[in-house]
Amino acid sequence: MEKTRWYKDMVFYQIWPRSFKDADADGMGDLWGVYEKLDYLQSLGVDGIWFSPLYPSPGADCGYDIADYMDIAPEFGGMEAFKKVLDGAHARGMKLIMDLVVNHTSDEHAWFQKSRRRIEPYTDYYIWRPARPDGKLPNNWDSCFEGKAWQFDELRGEYYLHIFAVKQPDLNMDNPLVREEVKKILRFWLDLGVDGFREDVITYISKKEGLPNDYLFPMNKGMLHYNHGPHIHEYLHEFKRDVLDHYDCMTLAEAPLVSPKRALKYIAEDETGQMDMMIQFQSQCADCLFTDYLPMKFSLRRFKRAFSSWQKKLRGRAWNMLYLENHDHPRVVSRYGSEKFWKQSAKTLAASYLFLQGTPFVYQGQELGMLNWRPEDPELYEDVQTRWQYAHAALNRSPEQRLHRLWRASRDSARTPMQWTDGEHAGFSTASPWFSVNENYKAINARQQEQDPDSILNFYRRAIALRKRLRAVRDGEYREFFPLSGRLYCYSRELPGQKLLVLCAYSEKPQKLRVPAGFDLSRAELVLQNYAVLQPGVLQPYETRVYLWED
Ligand code: NOJ
Repeated sequence: MEKTRWYKDMVFYQIWPRSFKDADADGMGDLWGVYEKLDYLQSLGVDGIWFSPLYPSPGADCGYDIADYMDIAPEFGGMEAFKKVLDGAHARGMKLIMDLVVNHTSDEHAWFQKSRRRIEPYTDYYIWRPARPDGKLPNNWDSCFEGKAWQFDELRGEYYLHIFAVKQPDLNMDNPLVREEVKKILRFWLDLGVDGFREDVITYISKKEGLPNDYLFPMNKGMLHYNHGPHIHEYLHEFKRDVLDHYDCMTLAEAPLVSPKRALKYIAEDETGQMDMMIQFQSQCADCLFTDYLPMKFSLRRFKRAFSSWQKKLRGRAWNMLYLENHDHPRVVSRYGSEKFWKQSAKTLAASYLFLQGTPFVYQGQELGMLNWRPEDPELYEDVQTRWQYAHAALNRSPEQRLHRLWRASRDSARTPMQWTDGEHAGFSTASPWFSVNENYKAINARQQEQDPDSILNFYRRAIALRKRLRAVRDGEYREFFPLSGRLYCYSRELPGQKLLVLCAYSEKPQKLRVPAGFDLSRAELVLQNYAVLQPGVLQPYETRVYLWED
């Protein structure tokens, strides 16, 4: 089947279903709610949806712990609602991709329940190791979420590996039967009409033989031996050859700790590539070391360096996936922008990535400039990783300091319900929501922003429409200017006959306007801006401007 690479002309929207829109009044977002909002998505200019997991799940990791891969959870409306949304999306010309989570399952999945009981053929579906005579764990690997990566199972009398939560046992991908199961899942959804997959921590699925101790990584020990493991490309090629090549679909790899050079081994646009795009984490590390829970001061230079290096190194060889937010990171205005200059900085952030080469993804609420959530009571946090962090990390700090760390770093900030209106429960649900609504919903909500031509929402609409209109955004060459500036992100996108200059100020104080040599602003059209009145020679706080030259 010929691959048309349709995603190159699109803008995607990520839905984290529990918190998007509740239509059946049980306090939990659902697919009927998504169905109601399809026109809203279309009005934003979105042409694709990525759904975080919708499958039946006990919810230990909000659906990333799957108990049945071939169904839709009843709380989301089951298959009936899913098909309605799929048809509704396709009728609007939108694509829909599912989250494929096959590094691990839920411990409540039937495979695991049979594996613990050594029922064939499931005995080796997971990674089991006997207890050692000295009482030590099978190796020194850490779980990314809770303590060590091994849990003893009384029924089987062995330890199983869980790189994530205790309730997320890792599958044994070296077992060909497990790989056949993955192919069945892929075919099932593709035959139903879905257009592709976002593949959860897919670079983790091949573990090094013998599961040796990891003496290199100071934290998340084990990563050395399971990220980009020995058979990763072989397994991904197998999925591609046996399934993906037979459909005109798209695949998006989630890949922690990956450089552009490494990414090309996965997503090069020649016969060596196995997937289409990659979720990189480098642009998420502008205010932290490695992950969100080692916070640092935001560095615009690190942010720019990440984007520029991916733009340059993938150009002509692979395609970028562009994003600022998803369900795993706090809100970007609170992190990289300024809550004081909320509206302006949300727009500057949008312009910083929406005119790059690649396929942009917008995460629910990002288009409204939703901000971090700051509850007074740490017990209100739901996320397994956040709760473990609070209970076990930085115990020498005061409870207040630890709480403030969560305010800054917890991914629960991205998981509070969508703020649709200033009415009860922010218009998310008529019942009491499963999770706290951010208190700022009276000031930040979609209804208010619909009515305000100058809102963040309407800026996103204009920016998305603009990127679709301009060939230079899809295909133009990328050049960055003033890379050493800690206050200005400035880049151009250039094709013969069309060129674009994007200026984004990152400062609460006015900055001198710097224009790169060769760009005559007096002959350009100002096609996007976030201040109604410009100051000559000056960029105002978090000002952004996009200039266009066309022959
Ligand atoms: C990455 C997902 O995005 C995250 O939400 C999840 O907790 C882990 N993988 C484990 O599935």
